[in-house]
Amino acid sequence: MSWDEAFADLYEEWSADMTADVAFYVDLACAADGPLVELAVGTGRVAIPVAQATGRPVTGIDSSPAMLAQARARAARAGVKLDLRQADMRDLALGEPAGLIYCPFRALLHLPTWPDRRRVFERVTASLRPGGRFAWNAFAFDHRIAARLDGGHQQEPVPHTNRYSVGDNRIDIILDSGAKSSLWWATKNEWLGLLDVASLELEALYGGFGREPFTGESREYVFIARRPVTGNTH
Ligand SMILES: C[S@@+](CC[C@H](N)C(=O)[O-])C[C@H]1O[C@@H](n2cnc3c(N)ncnc32)[C@H](O)[C@@H]1O
Repeated sequence: MSWDEAFADLYEEWSADMTADVAFYVDLACAADGPLVELAVGTGRVAIPVAQATGRPVTGIDSSPAMLAQARARAARAGVKLDLRQADMRDLALGEPAGLIYCPFRALLHLPTWPDRRRVFERVTASLRPGGRFAWNAFAFDHRIAARLDGGHQQEPVPHTNRYSVGDNRIDIILDSGAKSSLWWATKNEWLGLLDVASLELEALYGGFGREPFTGESREYVFIARRPVTGNTH
């Protein structure tokens, strides 16, 4: 299990410092023609500002009832409309093709295997309008960071320990409360391979949310892909 329900209790504190991504996804949403969909919407941390900025509803898919309950409460407090659906993103199916599908805060890394991600990418292609965009971000694995953090206890943002399983390209984040969340990192070539098998076009790869160029020193992949306007898709 990649996402422990008990993680939801501390998610607001856990994600408090992650604010840099919001304007990036809001800008994409403002430019999108067609329905807006967030995969792994969580508490609505990004979906609520997207709905506020665009004045349009956002469909939010998440498998966690505890996270969706928080999203529902927060959306009601903010007075915005989210269409929240409890579902696995691997089974994404929309009534109407989307103009933008996005997946912030490295949430695609909760999928353990390459075939899991392939399913998501293929579902994304099938769920986008021609020309519609798919955007996501994920960290780039750095062995120096792993060596520094592996097994050590950290106080911020919530007391926790990271454990790296390099052979399985997995990090387990274990909160002091016992709640665990696992992430399976992927290389740039794996991401590009996913675009290839899903017949999506790479529009841009940035090294940060300010649209900095991606370089060998970048530690975050910030991807924008597009369903081709013409041509074959699955
Ligand atoms: C790090 S949170 C991201 C939440 C939100 N997108 C944000 O940026 O704050 C990861 C979310 O992924 C969800 N998740 C994990 N695996 C999933 C899956 N297979 N399908 C749908 N949601 C999933 C978890 O329930 C959790 O809410």
